[in-house]
Amino acid sequence: MNEFFKHIKEGLSKSPKKLSSRYFYDTKGDALFQQIMQLEEYYLPRCELKIIESSSKQLASDVSKTHKKLQVVELGAGDGTKTKHLLKQFMPFFVTLDYVALDISANVLDTNKKEIESEMNDIQYSSIAGNYFETYKNLFPTSNGRLVLFLGANIGNYPTPETIEFFKFVKNNLKENDCFLVAFDLVKHPRKILAAYDDSEGVTKQFNLNLLERMNRELEANFDISSFDHFPFYNPLTGITSSQIISLKKQTVRFKDDFSVHFNAFEAIHTEVSKKFFWSDIEEIAIQSKMKIIQTYFDNNKEYAFVLFQPNL
Ligand code: AVI
Repeated sequence: MNEFFKHIKEGLSKSPKKLSSRYFYDTKGDALFQQIMQLEEYYLPRCELKIIESSSKQLASDVSKTHKKLQVVELGAGDGTKTKHLLKQFMPFFVTLDYVALDISANVLDTNKKEIESEMNDIQYSSIAGNYFETYKNLFPTSNGRLVLFLGANIGNYPTPETIEFFKFVKNNLKENDCFLVAFDLVKHPRKILAAYDDSEGVTKQFNLNLLERMNRELEANFDISSFDHFPFYNPLTGITSSQIISLKKQTVRFKDDFSVHFNAFEAIHTEVSKKFFWSDIEEIAIQSKMKIIQTYFDNNKEYAFVLFQPNL
């Protein structure tokens, strides 16, 4: 049985029903996420770009205090459009600069290579397609310093215990003075956060419901998409945005291999966590994963932060 089907069977048999947002990203999900990134309400990419524009030089200068030869490894590198701005600012600070892009999608890495190489001849470029939990472990050791990038506020999609595990996992491939740069979306007005996950054009709704469409396409399920709705909420007490799919009526959905799932009217499937961080959350992650915070770079409104960590050896 394929991994997706196994996950769906387990998740839809739980009470409450729960699926992982990592299955959002098939070809259609990737395209919808690109659309989300252009939405007025989805403020995250604009904050990130502002920090890249305003702080890349300072970041390069901070990292170059301990390293003159640097390997930049990006986890979940994407199409490279943002990273190329960052790397361009880095060039003058290092004698050699290598960039290793890790992403699940070979397709997206083709675009990444074109974007980066078109603007930087001197960079040593390489990429590895695959799940970065596998590919990162198998990176060649380097005598150069290493800076691992994890941008896009992707850290928010991990449930809290997994965040600590993830930090420990990254730390295992870092030497003393190597760095880990993580983008965090910070807590802000709850209405602004909620709007980012409940946009007026309904693109986020399509993105969430695409998970059902994906089951129809790949697992021969018979979800009637119009009888499900998207329902996100934000809890300012925990900083967690939680996205659900709601069944609008009592219904049974069938899959291939005689698997079927029953939904009560208004029953929910939990599909995504998007955590917004208090500063104390970030300090706690550093303590728990035995990392130290070296520097922080904010946007003007302090709504988003790049935090530079080093292993606390
Ligand atoms: C990829 N990740 C950081 C996005 C987020 O903000 O949690 C995914 C997303 N989900 C709904 N809109 C965007």
